[in-house]
Amino acid sequence: MSSDSNPSRDAGSGDEKTQNADPPKASIVVDGREHEYPVIVGSEGEHAIDTRKFRSQTGYITYDEGYGNTGSCQSEITFIDGEKGVLRHRGYPIEQLAEKSTFMETAYLIIYGELPTDDELTSFRQHVRENANLHEDMRHHFQGFPPDSHPMAVLSAMLNAVGCYHPQMSRNNREEELARFQEAATLLISKVRTIAATTYRMSQGLPAVYPRRDLRYVENFLHMMFSDPYEPYETPKEVFEALDLFLLLHADHEQNCSTSTVRMVASGGANLFASVAAGVCALWGPLHGGANAAVIRMLESIHRDGDDGSRFIKDAKEGKARLMGFGHRVYKNYDPRAKIFGEAAERMLKALGREDPLLDIARHLEEAALKDEYFVERKLYPNVDFYSGLVLKAIGIPVNMFTVMFAIGRMPGWIANWKEIAESSKRIHRPRQIYTGKNARDYVPVEKRG
Ligand code: CMC
Repeated sequence: MSSDSNPSRDAGSGDEKTQNADPPKASIVVDGREHEYPVIVGSEGEHAIDTRKFRSQTGYITYDEGYGNTGSCQSEITFIDGEKGVLRHRGYPIEQLAEKSTFMETAYLIIYGELPTDDELTSFRQHVRENANLHEDMRHHFQGFPPDSHPMAVLSAMLNAVGCYHPQMSRNNREEELARFQEAATLLISKVRTIAATTYRMSQGLPAVYPRRDLRYVENFLHMMFSDPYEPYETPKEVFEALDLFLLLHADHEQNCSTSTVRMVASGGANLFASVAAGVCALWGPLHGGANAAVIRMLESIHRDGDDGSRFIKDAKEGKARLMGFGHRVYKNYDPRAKIFGEAAERMLKALGREDPLLDIARHLEEAALKDEYFVERKLYPNVDFYSGLVLKAIGIPVNMFTVMFAIGRMPGWIANWKEIAESSKRIHRPRQIYTGKNARDYVPVEKRG
């Protein structure tokens, strides 16, 4: 295979591509015959061979289990350079957004493509506030779940249920849904938090708490989680800042497992509610969003065993355990979100005067792993989940709600990705496979089997 443009030269330099006079091409030789394919160049100089005609021209398919080399789409939302630890939303570096923006503002940016004006942001916040409540009938649905149901299962089901209460936005009619996109987006951003808090209250046998119009996004969520009819919850400044940052840092992350699921479901023409409900299910797994809860369980078990992390590292190297919150498919350098959140976690725990022995274990694990040949060779660094669980735990969020918190944060990204699919009306996503099962054989009647 050859290519007339050099990706390693161009990658990361958006300007260089404009200097190429001829559009780049790549050729692939199959069974001695050369086939030429266009090369797509992204706005940051990323290169992809456009193999859409490959099968019809050669009869072959490309095989890429886990999609490590496969570009499933062109997207304008988020850019990641995993080798350099770069993450940008709509061009804005995550470091700047984390320092200067808020979750609400970043959510708007991710969904609509530009930072909002003052009026736009005020109106967005207002709509989110107005949509916080659930239809009263929906509150009965919660009682249909056993009290120990996993909150991710409840969240997925309830997000789909929200669509049932808004049939004009969930009939799988693209034109109708795009016309009401703004309403559906704010409704989801707002209600996901009410569903999460109500799930928690129900699981504890506590009365549901209604949202308030005078509170900001994060405060309102914490109010619905922790206020009692006889005692309102007052959000400490440090908690507000840490949770807002947590949500902001999770707002989007390119074509990860759950976002790709949302796009996949959307590509079949499914509405926004169904698509994000599927995203929640994809996020649930411990290798994806479930990792933040798995990190805490890992740290607790290390603590219980009286280990400082050294034994665990040894087990991880021998393949007997996995260091949760470490490693990433895309980042082969520090996950920039982990860097930001690691520092914020320490600040917040100090300000709240909380000491957590798990933080010491985490720090020790990080230090040991970053020096260890096994982790260095494989370019395994802490990811966003390594410290986020410690912060959520300090806020009082129960461990089985951690991945729900991730889902609240990721909602803007899922919504923006659904919109890209809905607006582009491209083909249904339908990968191929290599069949490795039995060859054709004749049916055997039951009496002749065995
Ligand atoms: N602990 C120990 N070894 C690891 C780890 C880890 N956390 N992650 C990867 N490895 C090893 C793996 O065993 C393999 O070794 P070898 O080459 O000897 O077979 C090598 O590193 C490459 O790993 P991989 O499984 O092929 O990498 P991947 O890109 O398929 O998986 C990952 C990425 C995130 C699923 C994986 O690193 C992992 O399981 N990490 C722990 C779970 C976790 O923290 N997930 C959250 C990801 S960030 C939030 C999100 O986006 O969802």
